[in-house]
Order: sequence, then structure tokens, then C-alpha cells
Amino acid sequence: MADFLISLPALEKNARLLHDTGVRSGARMLLALKAFSTTSAFEAIRPWCDGCCASGLYEARLAARHMGGHIAVFSPAYQEAELQELLDIAHHIDFNSIPQWMRYREMCLAHPRAIRGEVLFGLRVNPCHSTGHTAIYDPCVPGSRLGIPPEQLKDADLSGLSGLHFHTLCEQGAEELIETFRAFEQHFGHLLAAPTMRYFNLGGGHWITKPFYHRKALISLLQEIRGTYDVEVFLEPGEAWAIHTGVLRATVLDVFESLGYHHAILDVSASAHMPDVLEMPYRPDVYVLHPGGTGTPAVCIPGEQYHQAGEPGEQAHTYRLGAPTCLAGDVIGDFSFPAPLHPGDTIILDDMAHYTIVKTTHFNGVPHPSISILHADGSQHTVRQLQYADFEHRLG
Ligand SMILES: Cc1ncc(COP(=O)(O)O)c(C=O)c1O
Repeated sequence: MADFLISLPALEKNARLLHDTGVRSGARMLLALKAFSTTSAFEAIRPWCDGCCASGLYEARLAARHMGGHIAVFSPAYQEAELQELLDIAHHIDFNSIPQWMRYREMCLAHPRAIRGEVLFGLRVNPCHSTGHTAIYDPCVPGSRLGIPPEQLKDADLSGLSGLHFHTLCEQGAEELIETFRAFEQHFGHLLAAPTMRYFNLGGGHWITKPFYHRKALISLLQEIRGTYDVEVFLEPGEAWAIHTGVLRATVLDVFESLGYHHAILDVSASAHMPDVLEMPYRPDVYVLHPGGTGTPAVCIPGEQYHQAGEPGEQAHTYRLGAPTCLAGDVIGDFSFPAPLHPGDTIILDDMAHYTIVKTTHFNGVPHPSISILHADGSQHTVRQLQYADFEHRLG
């Protein structure tokens, strides 16, 4: 039976580094739940984390129930009932368009927690500066729906707003953040300088826990921002908390040859369990449990040895790793191994704790649609309505 295996010590190592970055820079470090929301592993993160970034009501509830601390919410659009409940638990609520803010402005500002200053409201802006290389992950692509472009804020009524937020990076360094911040400042610096502004959120995408990340440069940028603007500064990385902390363990179900290719069918699917492998697309690092192997996946069980798979043809036996599904393209990739694979062999797909688990369950905590049946007489009824409990239950 396939499983995701997550290492608490590896999570704590990342968390301590992020915490240290927060302490040195004076910025508050949130965990973006969209990347990692396995609550049973939160004990390794909780002592080192200032709170969570939530993509909507489900993730905000999860943050309140399982992490505590600050809750910053951003969704491209809120439903009224969702926002009502968010007003009870969130500390920052960021809006993606002026029409949404205007529609809910009165309701938000009249809430007792807003009157007491316990929940603040902000706008996500688009600095219109791309640093990414993959359009699907770039909120600054032409035609992006994420973030308000500069010209729309020129004459807008910003009363009642206390924060600005941007998120544009993906797996990037301090250098890309610095150039993005300069673009932000050019377009929106005057708004951040307004005396009513209380917070500034620089989103996620910061690869802070990678060994080559230029932490010093990040810390000086954050100190510069805090010295220039009278606002609390937030970062909300996701991947950086959970990178190199977990693997997906799979089993070979069958091995056969067809039309000149050697196939190994696993008990996991790129489409159902690792959609980024197809969407991005990317090639995960793969290991096989193999006596005498010297490979080191993110999680190693004491006493077990792993051999890292190579490029096709690099080692003696090349296989196309495929899924037990009907989709012809549900293939993880072509990998070579030192010995033939057999049914029952254990295959390790490396670095699958962040994003992969949530994509297997409820990406962004977006509620799943109900299932309704239409009868011949025109009547319809809902047979299954998935709830918050289903979401929480599936995250472990
Ligand atoms: C608004 C927002 N904040 C934070 C994140 C977390 O980004 P990452 O996991 O790349 O650090 C994302 C990711 O898409 C995001 O959309």
C-alpha cells in the first residue's frame, strides 16, 4: 500500500531556519497551508512558526484548530457566508479586486473584531514584474487574474484598508524578491507609506531553506522595508517549510515489455497523486530500495538502503514508470536501475511532502462539489455533500 512518509526531524530543521530568519529580520513567518497541511506533523513546526497563510475558509479553520497564531487569508474571491466566518477567526483578510472589497467593505468594517482592530483588511496587488519561467506558476503573466494592477489603484477609495500583499515568486531566491520589491515600490510604494497602512505581506515562493539561498540579502531587504515603512512585515512561504521532508513510497505491481519499452506499473499515479509531475512538468528523483545502495532520499529508514535511479540508459535496466490508471500519459518518467525491477519492489519518489499531499486531497482547501442526481420527473436531490470534516479528515 503506497504511503507518504514525512520526517518530523526534517520538518523541524526547516522550521528552525525559517524562525531564525524571522527573528533576524523582524518579519513574521507564516506557513502557507496550501503547500503543507498535514496536521499530525504540525508539532514539528508549531514552536517555530508565527501562524498560517490560508487560501479560504477551510484552511483558515484548519489553522485556527491545529496551528494557532496569526491567520492571513487570501482568496481570489470570497463567498459571503465564508467571509462572515473568516471575520470571526482571521487576522488579515486580503482582497483580489476592488469590486470584491467594495461589495463586502461595509460588512467587514462593521464586524466587532474589525472595530477592535483584531482583523485587518488588505489588497493583493500585481507588481507586474515576472521573475518566473513557468507561466502556470507566474501571477504576473499577461492577463493574470491574481493581484490588482497599478492603474486600478490610482483613484480607488482605499479607506478601511490597512495592508498590501503580493505573491509572485515560485522556488526563487532573495535576488528575485529584491527586484520584485523594487517594482512593487515603484507602483505601490506611496500607498504603503500611507499612515493608515499597518502590514505588508510579501507572499511565498522564497526558497529560504535551500542551502544556496542568500539569507543575508533577504534579511537586509526585510530590515530595509521595516525601516522605511511603518508596517509589520510578513512572509508566507509554503514549500520552504516542507521541502526535503517527505517521500511517496510506492510498490511495483507489474513489469512487462511492450513495443520495445520496458514498463513498470506502480500503485501510484501522476494524475491522481502527483499532478505537478504532469502540470509543471517535472521529473522527480526516484530511488529503489536495494541492498548496498548509497542513495539518500529525503527520508531514510534506519537499516534500509536505497539506490538512486538514473537517466534512461545510464544504468543497466531502463523502465517507464507508469500508473495503474486509464490515462495513456499517466507516466512518471523513464528511469534506469542497476538491476531488473520485480513486482513487490519498493520505489521511493523523493520530496513529495509539499504540495503533493494537498493536491492528492483538497488543493487550497477548496471545498469539493456536491453530487446531485436528476430524476426523469425533473426533480433533483443531493446525495453527497462534502464538508470541512472531510477535508480535515483526509489530511492526516
Ligand atoms: C498567495 C500565496 N502565498 C503563498 C504561497 C506559497 O508559495 P510557496 O509554497 O512557493 O512558498 C502561494 C503559492 O502559490 C500563494 O499563492
